[in-house]
This record gives sequence, structure tokens and C-alpha cells, in this order.
Amino acid sequence: MTSKQTVNKCLFPVAGYGTRFLPATKSMPKEMLPIVNKPLMQYAVEEAMEAGINKMGFITGRGKRAIADYFDNNYELEHEIAGSSKAEHLNDINRVMDDGQFIFMRQREMLGLGHAILTGEAIIGREPFAVILADDLCVAPLQQTEVPRAMAQLIELYNKYQCCIVAIEEIPKADTGSYGIISGKEIEPGIYDVTDMIEKPKPEDAPTNMAIIGRYVLTPEIFDYLRETKPGTNGEVQITDALKQVAKEERVIAVKFAGQRFDCGSIPGFVEATNYFYEHEFKANQ
Ligand code: UTP
Repeated sequence: MTSKQTVNKCLFPVAGYGTRFLPATKSMPKEMLPIVNKPLMQYAVEEAMEAGINKMGFITGRGKRAIADYFDNNYELEHEIAGSSKAEHLNDINRVMDDGQFIFMRQREMLGLGHAILTGEAIIGREPFAVILADDLCVAPLQQTEVPRAMAQLIELYNKYQCCIVAIEEIPKADTGSYGIISGKEIEPGIYDVTDMIEKPKPEDAPTNMAIIGRYVLTPEIFDYLRETKPGTNGEVQITDALKQVAKEERVIAVKFAGQRFDCGSIPGFVEATNYFYEHEFKANQ
């Protein structure tokens, strides 16, 4: 894995059903749920842009058209509010639309996150790329404005090590069944050479409490590994299983990123994020 290319593209696998948010997600993508007044999807795209990426690839599924519409003009609405103070509310999303390119592909069957990423091969080609799961919402550390959000931190490490990079977080041992768990050798403070990975282990089977969260930088060889990966936990093709093989044969680095993550795929995490953003962003800017 010696490619020396820069990371220009980000994949957003957004095909999942979001069953934990039913009934809200019956006819609306989970990624369009807002934290205060901004959809999770926009936070994710902004984080990629902060990391210097402008090509955004979405792996969508049926019922996810609202995501594509969100990154397009809405002439009727824009005409209606033009010239009023309300038009300012569209400034941020208009900037994102102006600065980014947005590519959409369908994952026809929900065969797992690994399969969703493999579906994105047609968008990515043979270059390194970022992956962001929008329901993991990452914020920079409070009061450290010089520190960027997680993806920019991962890309900095990719530029140094030129291998697959995953973001990790220490979680309560009781929660290991919801995550991919790594073991590894610490090579710099908070940075690990991954030696093993296991998807959703029972707490008693988990080697550590270091959990992979929804931020990855992957080299294009991952597609070859994913093609060889058999369905694992829950009958899905797991990215963790493919990365485990990369760790064995090449190299995967895990980083405890600076900042905070909210698990907005779960109701408690979503409420926590809402309170955080209301307090630190929305109220602060009023
Ligand atoms: P989750 O495990 O969170 O599943 O998927 P989900 O369907 O989104 O949510 P719940 O558990 O039913 O509430 C992790 C990520 O992988 C994507 C999802 O969209 C989510 O971003 N994914 C998962 C796909 O794109 N395709 C799949 O086949 C599976």
C-alpha cells in the first residue's frame, strides 16, 4: 500500500434503514434528522470539507431522495424568501453546495456497511478516500478552536503513514456488542498499530474497550479485501472483517481523535447532541 495520493473524496454510506428512529425514519432518511436546525448530513459534509475534501459520494437506498434534494436548489422556496432575513438561513448550505460536488449511487440490497463501501468503488476508483457515517456526529474539543474535527485529524495521519486509518474511542466495556473493537500496539500517544479487530463482541470476548467509530480513511486496496470478505456478524459484509485482514497483511492505524462524538444513531446520543449544539452553537450565536 504505497500510493502517495491525497484524499479528495469522501463516501457517506447512508442506505441503512435507521430502525432505531422508527417511526420518524419510515419515510425520512435518518441522516436528515436535524440537530437543532441542521441535518446530520450537513454536519458530516462540512466535516469532510474542513478536511479539504470536495467530492462527496453518497451510497443511498430507496427512500433516501431527500438527501439528494437537500444538496440541490429549491427555486420556489428561494424565490419566496429572497430579500428577507429568512434567506440567511440558507447561507451555510448554499456555501456547501457551491464548494462541493455531489455524487449519488444506490445500494440495491442492504448487505452491510462493507458492501455499501464496496458499492462506492465506482465513485472512488483507485485512490485513497474518506468514509464518514453521518450518524456519528463529531465535534472539535471545546475551547480549542485550532483543533479541527475528527476527519482532518485522520487525514493528517494518513499523509504521514499512507495506510488505512480508523478513529477509535474508549467505550464502557458493557457496550462492546455495538461496535467493532480493536487491539493494538501504541506507537505514539493515542495512536495504535492495529493487531486485531472483532465486530460486535460480547463484553467477555472483547480484547479491549477501544471501539471504532464512524470515521475512516481507506486505501483503494480495501475494495479487493471487501470482495473477498464473507458475510459475518448479522449476515452482513463487515468493514471490520476486511480491515482485520488489511491489518494482518499490510497496516491499519487507529487513533483516539481529539474532540467528542455523539452517537446520533441512538436516541440518548441524539438528545445529548441536541442539548450540546443548542448550548454551544445555537444559543451562543443568537
Ligand atoms: P447501522 O448499523 O447504524 O444501521 O449502519 P442503520 O440501518 O443505519 O440504523 P439502525 O441500526 O437500523 O437504527 C451503520 C451505517 O452503515 C450504513 C448506514 O446507513 C449507517 O450509516 N449502511 C449499513 C449502509 O449504507 N448499508 C448497509 O447495508 C448497512
